[in-house]
Amino acid sequence: MITTSLAASAPAALQASSLAPTPHFDRPTYLMCPPEFFDVDYVINPWMAGNLHRPSRDTAFAQWRNLYTHLKRIADVRLLHARPGSPDMVYVAHAAIISHGIAALSSFAHPQRQTEEQHLRRWLQEAGFLLWETPRETAFEGEGDAMFDADGRHLWIANGSRTCLHSHRHIADAWHTPVTSLHLVDPRFYHLDICFAPLADGHVLYFPAAFDGVSLAKIEAAYPAEKRITVSETEATHFACSVINVGRNILMGSGTVDLAARLADHGFDVTQLDLSEFHRGGGSAKSLALRLSDLELAESL
Ligand code: ARG
Repeated sequence: MITTSLAASAPAALQASSLAPTPHFDRPTYLMCPPEFFDVDYVINPWMAGNLHRPSRDTAFAQWRNLYTHLKRIADVRLLHARPGSPDMVYVAHAAIISHGIAALSSFAHPQRQTEEQHLRRWLQEAGFLLWETPRETAFEGEGDAMFDADGRHLWIANGSRTCLHSHRHIADAWHTPVTSLHLVDPRFYHLDICFAPLADGHVLYFPAAFDGVSLAKIEAAYPAEKRITVSETEATHFACSVINVGRNILMGSGTVDLAARLADHGFDVTQLDLSEFHRGGGSAKSLALRLSDLELAESL
């Protein structure tokens, strides 16, 4: 539990606008940012190549609204205003990772996304979160590359083309949690959220070939075989690992019917939605919603 006394004795990297208590949530709560200015304006991942200015904003808006409507059925959803000049801002989950009222802010690897940082920082500060800053020299991309296990007690953070290894300890120090580093080796899976997802009840969903052998061994040592759900290359390239999981509910992009059935066999209630316009930018369901509440709030399966 984070208390005001922690805020009072917090290191310099932790900043709160006041000593007021951090936000309290009674239900799973997420932040989304509408795709008002969404486009593929530049190429910073392999999925964006060939998609320059191809997304339809009307279709993107309809797909985003559908995800918003479905997420509202299982969680509270807050909104962050989109800003011109930040076309990737809709992928709001990359701008921070949050737990127990502390938000570890991203320091994006690419200048094209650094413009997003100030907008989320301001929103989180006004909402009362304690802010844990990341130095510019150590790139870190929020929930794009960092995820807690479902019990909120252990962090997985990736290093590859975005988040750098040197940021891992610094991020984990925000909560004094243990952290395991995973190395990404396939340029198509440049973020952890498109190849790895800890799920409720101790499950994990992942694409093994996105990791080096040492990282794979760490994943397989942490999750027993019966809790591991692997995806094929075809499923992974349909962004099958980019899921929003709240208790037994899973929201994900469409096109992986067989995987939905396998997840159902493990007790999950899966809803697949067309998020194809966001696949053009290199992301899917998970990246479109940033978790604000604590993982422990989501009821288990
Ligand atoms: N264009 C964004 C970027 O490259 C897309 C992010 C979506 N990525 C994801 N990991 N889901 O940063």
